[in-house]
Amino acid sequence: MITKKQDFSEKLSIAPMLDWTDRHYRYMMRLISKHITLYTEMIACPALILGRNKNLLLDYNPEEHPVILQVGGSEPKLMAECAKMAYEWGYDGININAGCPSPRVQSGKFGAILLKTPEVIADCVAEMVAATPLPVSVKTRISLSDVGGDGFQELFTLTDSLKKSGCSHLIVHARKAKLNWRPKENRLRLQVNYPLVYQLKKSFPDLPISINGDVLSLADIPKHLKYVDGVMIGRWAYGNPYELREVDKLFYGDNHTILSRAEVVEEMIRYASIHHKQLNKILSHMIGLYRGQPNASLYKKALLSRNLDNLKAFLKDPQSP
Ligand SMILES: Cc1cc2nc3c(=O)[nH]c(=O)nc-3n(C[C@H](O)[C@H](O)[C@H](O)COP(=O)(O)O)c2cc1C
Repeated sequence: MITKKQDFSEKLSIAPMLDWTDRHYRYMMRLISKHITLYTEMIACPALILGRNKNLLLDYNPEEHPVILQVGGSEPKLMAECAKMAYEWGYDGININAGCPSPRVQSGKFGAILLKTPEVIADCVAEMVAATPLPVSVKTRISLSDVGGDGFQELFTLTDSLKKSGCSHLIVHARKAKLNWRPKENRLRLQVNYPLVYQLKKSFPDLPISINGDVLSLADIPKHLKYVDGVMIGRWAYGNPYELREVDKLFYGDNHTILSRAEVVEEMIRYASIHHKQLNKILSHMIGLYRGQPNASLYKKALLSRNLDNLKAFLKDPQSP
C-alpha cells in the first residue's frame, strides 16, 4: 500500500486532549485558523472495534480538515482495523497515543506504558501502514522516567524502529513519563528537555518531527521551528484559543481576513443552535475566547447562563453589565 501524499503541513497542530478537543472545540478552532492541524481526543481502539457508538466517536464536521484521529491501542491487527475506519471516514491521518501516562489509559495497555514494549508500537505502525494509504504518526514522550540518563538512547531506538515501520511523523512531548503519576503530576514534576528533541531531529533529518510540551505563547513557536518541523500546542490553545488568530499569517503566509472575537462567538451561537443537545459542551469550549479582555467577566457571565440569548445580548452591547 502506498501512503497517501500528505497535502497539509503539520507545522502547527493542536494536541489531542480528552474531553477538550472534541468536534465542537475543533470547529471553533477552525474559525480561528484555516491551517493548523487538529487532532481528535484519544479514542480507545476497542471502543471503535466494538462499534456501539462508532458513529458518535468518529463523526466530525467537514470544516475540520486537516484532522487526525488519535487512537489508543496495542493490538496491531485491531489498530489496522481502526486505521481502515479512519480512512473510510475521511480523516487526514491516524495517530497512535504512546505517551499518555494516565492510570486509566495504562489499564487499557496503551499510552506511555507502550514504551515498555517499543516493538509493539512499531508493529502497530507497520500493520496500520499496510492497511490503508493514510499517514500513520505516533505521539510519544522522551522515555519512561525509570530509565537512566536523559532517555535519548531509548528515544533514538524507538524512532529508528518507527521510521523503519513506515511512521510518517513523530510528535515528542519533550519530557519523560512516570507511569504511576497522573498526567498533571507528570507535567509539574518532570522537566521538559527541548534540546534532546532538537538532537533527535538532527539524527533523523528525513523524518518529520514535532515538539510538544509547555508551549505557552506565540513567541515560543518560531524558537522551536528553528530545530524541528512542527510544534504541537495543548493547554495554551485550549485556554486561549483567540491568541492563535495570527498563526495563518505568521506561519503559513496566508493573509486571509481574521474573524473578530465577536464573529467567532456569533458563528458558535449559530453552530450551538444546530447542535443544541451539546450546548453545555460547546459553551464550555468557548470560555477562553475573551480571556484578558476588559469585558471578559461580562462575556463569562453570559456564557455561564447557558442561554444563547444572553450571549447575543452580550454581542449587541459588549460593555453593558
Ligand atoms: C485535559 C487533557 C487531556 C489530554 N488528553 C490527551 C489525549 O487524549 N491524548 C494524548 O496523546 N495526550 C493527551 N493529553 C496530553 C496533551 O496532548 C499534551 O501532550 C500535553 O498537554 C502537553 O502539551 P501542553 O503543555 O502544550 O499542554 C491531554 C492533556 C490534557 C491537559
